[in-house]
Amino acid sequence: MSAPALSFERDIKPLFREKDRTSMSRAFDLWSAADVAAHGQAILARLQDGSMPCDGAWPADKVDTFATWLNAGAQP
Ligand code: HEM
Repeated sequence: MSAPALSFERDIKPLFREKDRTSMSRAFDLWSAADVAAHGQAILARLQDGSMPCDGAWPADKVDTFATWLNAGAQP
């Protein structure tokens, strides 16, 4: 049995705090599936190197969830 495909609205958007969205709004909208998909590789790189969020890196399981969603085609 395989897990259901990850969706932005259900699985990814809740990972981003209002503070994250506000902080990054000049570059992209972290609550928009289209924006996050378009900047997905840059976002993943920052999550993996721990430089974003600026106030503390995500635990590996959150980064893995984001990577899985992105690599599966970034479904809305
Ligand atoms: C999960 C949440 C966040 C993600 C995925 C994220 C992602 C990114 C990415 C991809 C860039 C590079 C933008 C570019 O290439 O133009 C960036 C830059 C930046 N972010 Fe974030 N960010 C997050 C949260 C935050 C927070 C909470 C703050 C701080 C209050 C912040 C402050 C900045 C600043 C000041 C820059 C520009 C300077 C730099 O490149 O380091 N971000 N962020």
